[in-house]
Amino acid sequence: MRSLRRSLAIRFAATMAAGLLVATAAFYWAASRALEQAVPAPSAALEADLLLALGAVVVCGTAATLMGAWHFTSSAVRPVAEITAQATHIEAGTLDQRIVAHADTEEYEGLVAVLNRMLERLETGFAAQRRLTADMSHELRTPLTALRGEIEVALRADRSPRDYQIVLRSALEEIDQLTTLSEDLLLITRADAHVLTLHRESTDVTALVEGAVERLRTRVTRRDLTLNRAFRAGAERASLDPELAARLVDHLLENAVSQTPEGGTVAVTVEPGGLGVRLIVENSGPGIDAADLPHLFEPFYRCDPARTRDDCCGGPGLGLAMVSAIARLHGGAARATSAPGRGTRFEIDLAVSPVN
Ligand SMILES: Nc1ncnc2c1ncn2[C@@H]1O[C@H](COP(=O)(O)OP(=O)(O)OP(=O)(O)O)[C@@H](O)[C@H]1O
Ligand SMILES: [Mg+2]
Repeated sequence: MRSLRRSLAIRFAATMAAGLLVATAAFYWAASRALEQAVPAPSAALEADLLLALGAVVVCGTAATLMGAWHFTSSAVRPVAEITAQATHIEAGTLDQRIVAHADTEEYEGLVAVLNRMLERLETGFAAQRRLTADMSHELRTPLTALRGEIEVALRADRSPRDYQIVLRSALEEIDQLTTLSEDLLLITRADAHVLTLHRESTDVTALVEGAVERLRTRVTRRDLTLNRAFRAGAERASLDPELAARLVDHLLENAVSQTPEGGTVAVTVEPGGLGVRLIVENSGPGIDAADLPHLFEPFYRCDPARTRDDCCGGPGLGLAMVSAIARLHGGAARATSAPGRGTRFEIDLAVSPVN
């Protein structure tokens, strides 16, 4: 590998040597003519002295240029050495470090700024991954501990077949929770890693929403909620992944139904949007704190951290992350808005090609 400093110095000196050669050749020619006119027969020794003097000028000039260029290029490329040395020491555990090279030119300042911005993005990404892993371990441990406790208690004495059945049924519930958790996580992480392919097909969006409403019918009635639907023309059918779109609708409605106070209202609207189809789910209630809104779609984010999954509506906090992942997979986006005391509104844009 060639050193930038060396090659710059050599090129600079070579250019200087070529210039000196041309200049001295011109000088030699002019001096020879002048000598011939002044001294009709100049001695060979005089000419040799002249040549020697001019050769010395070329050699000394080139050597001096090389030394000067070496010095100047050294200081010019010093920031590169500093940046390399500092960047070499930055590892996964020290991503909070920033490069502070002595960059006194626009180009180096730009390079340092770009590298520092990249480090910032990496730090944020690594922190999110670490948080995700920690939350994941915590969420997995809870049902596993419960499962272990139940089985241990059951094994402490001989039980009747009915008691065993109760324990097994409860174990099955915990296993179901774990399965849902791992499936949701798999979907979110695979969507983030861009390794999930959509299976788009002509989907009846109206039927999708009605199916989700039907599945929640008992809870809606029990909590005395009013559930309104509106389907605007032009968005009844669309090219979507029906399975993922159903999970998205199910989840948004499930959240709305569980978060709306008794006697409240939930409204679902499907309309043509800028990207294709827009799904709007609104619900009455106290709304979401402005501080929580930017984090809603992060995995394992719950507005009330004190709440546990055993409460009325407590899940692990993966639902909205999944909604956002499905929207992104469809080339769209998920947004949430809320005003204190005036409920919450979720807007999901899905980029689709409407199918007739
Ligand atoms: N429609 C809504 N109205 C008010 N708050 C909501 C609504 N939807 C979600 N939230 C708040 O956003 C948080 C995150 O929702 P998300 O669906 O991701 O998780 P979860 O419902 O708590 O658990 P999971 O969906 O994994 O079972 C919830 O804890 C809830 O506080
Ligand atoms: Mg949820």
